[in-house]
Parts: sequence; C-alpha cells; structure tokens
Amino acid sequence: MAIREVLRMGHPVLRERAKPVEKPGSPELLELVRDMKDTMAAKNGAGLAAPQIGVGQRVVIFGVTKNPRYPDAEEVPFTVLVNPKIVLLTREVEEGWEGCLSVPGMRGVVPRYTKLRYSGFDEHGNPVEREAEGFHARVVQHECDHLDGILYPQRMTDLGKFGFIEELFPGEDLSDD
Ligand code: NI
Repeated sequence: MAIREVLRMGHPVLRERAKPVEKPGSPELLELVRDMKDTMAAKNGAGLAAPQIGVGQRVVIFGVTKNPRYPDAEEVPFTVLVNPKIVLLTREVEEGWEGCLSVPGMRGVVPRYTKLRYSGFDEHGNPVEREAEGFHARVVQHECDHLDGILYPQRMTDLGKFGFIEELFPGEDLSDD
C-alpha cells in the first residue's frame, strides 16, 4: 500500500499533456494503479488521474459509492481507464459543483456535457466501453481533462462561483478535497 503525494495546482506536471500507456498489464502500470487506488481512497476522492501523483501517463480512476452523508450524490461504478477516448453524445451542457484533490479546500461550478461514451482499457488490457450521463459523465470529463493538463478552474465560466468550501457551504460536513 502506497499513498502518494497529490500535486497541487501550479505544479508544472499538472499542466502537461500525458503520454499514452504502451503496455497495459505491465508490472509498472499495475503498481501505478494500485498507488492511485490507495491515494484516492485515503483522500476520499471521486477520481484521480496519474499526473496528480506526478506520473505523466494517460491513466485515470474514478468511482463514487452511495454515501448516506450525501444522499444526492449519484453512484458511479469504480473504473480504471487507460488511454481513454471520449465521444460526446450531446451538445447539451449542465452546470455543477466540482472539487479536485489538486485544488484542496475549494469548489467551483463547471459546465460539462451531459452525455458521452468513453472507451479505453483497464490496467490488465481488457477493453472498457460505456455510456455515461449526468454526474458520471462529469467525473469522466474532469479526470480526462487532467490528462491534457487542464484543471477544472480552467473550464469555469463564472469565477464568482469559485471559493473555499468552508465559506461556500458553512456548517456542512464535506470532504477536504
Ligand atoms: Ni481533479
């Protein structure tokens, strides 16, 4: 088990375009994914991209389980996605709050496409393909943006809806990502 340090906004690796993984199933990739899972679990994140732990490869993980503390949060199946591709299935955009382990303590409202298809491989090289809507589609876009050096504040259209969790949602017991 290895919980890795999560780089914060401003670190140059977070601005770089990550490189495709050449060999799914390699011991290096399996170790990377294990570390990413450990790190995401330790920080209560909804997702994590390899560049966030300093590895410039096209690997993301995400997943949200039902939590009684957040009854409105939609469940997202736990997914490992290597070399992801996204095809948008709509031009419709919806605004929603996002946070990021690389922007700790903050939340912002981000417009995202509401429906897409994503594909890629898991860490063993098995193909993954799924359609996603709503919060699931939002998480996929957020994580895949990391692979192109984009953090969610760069997608915001109204910086008036960007701030510290404690100021935006006083008294609410939200995680600190
Ligand atoms: Ni993020």
